[in-house]
Formats: sequence, C-alpha cells, structure tokens
Amino acid sequence: MADPVEYLRRIPKVELHCHLEGSVRAETAVELARRHSVTLPTYEPSELYDFDGIVEFLVAYVAVSRSIIDREDFARVTYESLEDQVRLGNLRYREMFFNPTNHYADGVSYDTCVDGVIDGIRAAETDLGVRCNLIVAINKSEPPADAVALVEQVIASPRDEIIGIGQDHLTPDNLETPQLFAEAYELAKRNGLNITAHAGEIDASTSADVAAALDLGCLRVDHGYHILDDEAVVARARDAGVVFTGCLHSSALLYGWDDFTAHPIRTMIAEGLRMTFNTDDPTMLNTDLGKEYAEGCPKMGLTNEQAEEIALTGVDASWLPDDEKAEMREEFLREMAELRSALL
Ligand code: HPA
Ligand code: ZN
Repeated sequence: MADPVEYLRRIPKVELHCHLEGSVRAETAVELARRHSVTLPTYEPSELYDFDGIVEFLVAYVAVSRSIIDREDFARVTYESLEDQVRLGNLRYREMFFNPTNHYADGVSYDTCVDGVIDGIRAAETDLGVRCNLIVAINKSEPPADAVALVEQVIASPRDEIIGIGQDHLTPDNLETPQLFAEAYELAKRNGLNITAHAGEIDASTSADVAAALDLGCLRVDHGYHILDDEAVVARARDAGVVFTGCLHSSALLYGWDDFTAHPIRTMIAEGLRMTFNTDDPTMLNTDLGKEYAEGCPKMGLTNEQAEEIALTGVDASWLPDDEKAEMREEFLREMAELRSALL
C-alpha cells in the first residue's frame, strides 16, 4: 500500500550534524546522573529536556554531559544514540560531534571519552550495521587557547574514527564568531583533519559569521541560515560547492522558525545551495532523523526526488574515502528504487 510518509522515513540516510551529548535518552541521563551522584535540574525524564532557547539549552546540555563519566557510559550513550536513529530514520552512516572538554570538569580523561565512544560505535556497527566516525567539538565558551590544546590532544592521541574538528556552544557573549578559533583550525588542517563550523545559526548571527567559516576553509557549514542576509556570500558558497547541515526541527524549537514554507532551509535549497538534513540534538530537541524528512519535506513542499537528493548529498559531503562514498551512493540508489516501488 502506498505510504509516502513511511517512504521518507525509510530511505537510507547519512547524518553529518548530530551531537552525542544532545542525543542521550532522558531516561539514560537520569540513570547515569543518579549512579554518579551528579546534580541534574530535575530527575524526571519527561522534564529534563524542557528549556527555552539556545542558552538554556546549553545549560541542560552541560548537565547531561556531566552524567557521562565512565568508559562504559560513553559506550552506552553512543550505542543508544545510533540505535535510535537506525530505528527511526534508517541511519546508515553518521559523522558525530562529541565534546571532550565538557567532560573534563569531572576529571574524565580524553582517552576515557574517546575509547568509550569508539566501543559504542563498534558495537552498533556489529549489531546494527550502522557506521559512525567522529568530529571533535571545540567548546566555544572556552578560550581559543583551550581549542588549540584540544586539537593538540586529538593529534597526540589519534584514532581512525576521529576524522575532523567542529564546534558546539557559543562564545561567552553568546555569539558564534568561528574566526576566534582560527589557530585551532589551522593546526587541524595542517595535520590532515577535516573541518566544519557552526555559523549563521543563532538570532544574533549574520552572513559574516558564515563568511568567516568559509575563510577558515570550511567546505561544510553547520546550520548557516543567516547566509541569506547577503547574496554575495550565498553566491560564494554556491560557487565553492559548500554543503550546509540543516537542522529543521532544531531551528524551529530554538529560534521559532516554525513556518516551514518560509524556512531558511527551504530558501537555501531554492537558492541552489547544497543541503543535508540532520537532527542536531535529537532527544533534547524532540526530533529524529525520520521526522526531519517525513515531516520536513512535505511541510517545505519538497518532492520525493528532492528528498532523495538531500540524502545523497549527505553521502557526497561526508568525509569518507571516495571509493566508500561511491559504494554507499550505489547502495542508497538501489534501496531507494526498491522503497519507491514498495511504498509510492
Ligand atoms: N549550536 C550551538 N551549540 C550546540 C549546538 C548547536 O546547534 N548543538 C549542541 N551544541
Ligand atoms: Zn549543532
């Protein structure tokens, strides 16, 4: 029987913008916080992710981060995060942010975080066939020198799964300004790491923040919505083939962009910018990867062909080797054709 919503949920997907710490099940966060005697604003799972705006969101995000302490905790939250999106959105490959410095405050070492996350990735791949690599997030609320130290740590303790550097949080004055971290980005690039930056997301940001991310050398930009303020920056990103990791429900919840027919993601696609769909922080923001497509595409007036194109852009914009991308693209195309004949 035809079921176009199920079709959008089931098409195979890559996710390039999901933060581990924003994808922890509320029940798990509460259980871990109790086990480790960590203070949470509430121990009622249904209230834990109740906040208003990005600044309050980041307070909750840090509280949840502090509940993840042991290597086994990192493995568990990683596994569950992948498992949820396999089930809800047919996730096949993710490049996932995680933020080691939010865990340092509690005496957790870089290696404990990384090894635990990698344990979770490997278990999820074995059990569920999903793959995942990692983007270490610079915490923008901390000084630029800390970002350089973080990149030095990444370089000193290499892992096959760690393939890039990105960002989370905002600066202490609640701005984005990716250029503050130029030295850390230069160091990452010199050492063969891929780079991406959050820019053009928040109400206070402008197209200049997106231009600053491009100046750093980013060919992927996370969010990027305020690029639309300046046609010249739009043209620059379009000409350079920059890919944006859009997060529809995240931006609706955090910034009130809930008219999807006029959403910047819709306009960016119409302007010819390359776009992917992502959850950002799925459990915290009440979304999932299936919902991003199954609710997002119809509400934005995007066709099934455009949905497929967006999913394939995720493959193309990933940092996997070219031969693996080509193989994944073929697999996605085959599976999409099967789903089309079964569900459309
Ligand atoms: N923006 C800024 N900080 C964040 C985000 C985001 O989308 N997600 C998690 N931390
Ligand atoms: Zn984000």
